[in-house]
Amino acid sequence: MADSARPVSQDARRASLAWFPRCEIRPLGAGFINDTFLIENHERRYVLQRINGSVFPDPHMAMSQTIRVVDHIAAKQPGWVPTLVPDLAGEFLHEDTGGEVWRLWDYVEGTETRQFLRGAAALRSAAQSFARFQNLLIDLPGPRFEDPIPGFMQLGHYLEDLAEMAPDEPWMRFVASRDALSELFNERTGYIHGDCKVNNLLYHVGGDEVAAVVDLDTVMYGHWVWDFGDLVRSAAGEAGAFSLDRYEVLLEGFSRETRRAPTVDELVLGPRYVTLMLGVRLLTDHLMGDRYFKVDSAGDNLRRAETQFRLLESMEKAETGMRERVKRYSAQD
Ligand SMILES: Nc1ncnc2c1ncn2[C@@H]1O[C@H](COP(=O)(O)OP(=O)(O)OP(=O)(O)O)[C@@H](O)[C@H]1O
Ligand SMILES: [Mg+2]
Repeated sequence: MADSARPVSQDARRASLAWFPRCEIRPLGAGFINDTFLIENHERRYVLQRINGSVFPDPHMAMSQTIRVVDHIAAKQPGWVPTLVPDLAGEFLHEDTGGEVWRLWDYVEGTETRQFLRGAAALRSAAQSFARFQNLLIDLPGPRFEDPIPGFMQLGHYLEDLAEMAPDEPWMRFVASRDALSELFNERTGYIHGDCKVNNLLYHVGGDEVAAVVDLDTVMYGHWVWDFGDLVRSAAGEAGAFSLDRYEVLLEGFSRETRRAPTVDELVLGPRYVTLMLGVRLLTDHLMGDRYFKVDSAGDNLRRAETQFRLLESMEKAETGMRERVKRYSAQD
């Protein structure tokens, strides 16, 4: 969705000149990481993005990996990821005079982004789509990716940072009593999306089917359950509490599509691993002065961390129910 109330920076206008002598430009979406703009030029629409250099320490490396993902998936399933558009110099990446890095995508017409999925059909498609995304990358050729963000998705790394910085933090007991989760899911099983939130899916307008997957810079060689866990964390909640029914739909969609052979423990504990990790990252960012996650007012990241910790508790309480539902869908224990 375009948001004409927000101003468009001069930087974005200048960057657009690398592709078009003139065009219309508006902010787009609700992304927290990159700056995203909708561009209109001669009846066609595009998406201009500045890659956030404080999140991705090496935007050139991240972008070269993103190009490999796009090329590979587009060859196997055309349209499943958007197409990158070269600038007037023929480059996919434009670096401005301030060292900021920009790129342009084709806008995927006839689609919409949702922040929350109501019906089971749309929720099931989300899980199937992220599983399919992993499937499509199983045979990605070439050297294995570097982690686009150092330590990304590694709970142990984030726990160490927090313990070092704030050993007396009141949430530390809650966190430390669950640190055994960091022993799990450390092996790398294949390429994953790395940011499995439903607003990274483009749905056919008014429909339940996904047309394309976006936000590809976090694709990494990791554990498949980091994706499933993040999807459950972000999409299985309803009114702040974990919903077993929504979990079951996600489980069903993912299990139907994935070419992995998930175990019961992976499907039950994976969401807890990712939820604790995000809570710890938010708490750490709050203590460090909100450097990573944007805030509207001081304390936002502490409140977001508390929400994750409460969600984690409700997943713990739902463990028996989760195990029962997994057993209906998974092949092995
Ligand atoms: N090619 C595209 N066609 C249509 N809409 C798009 C396209 N690319 C991005 N969008 C829209 O812009 C939004 C933000 O894009 P994207 O997810 O890449 O940014 P981000 O800042 O990295 O997001 P996040 O907050 O997930 O980190 C998407 O949720 C989607 O609504
Ligand atoms: Mg996004």
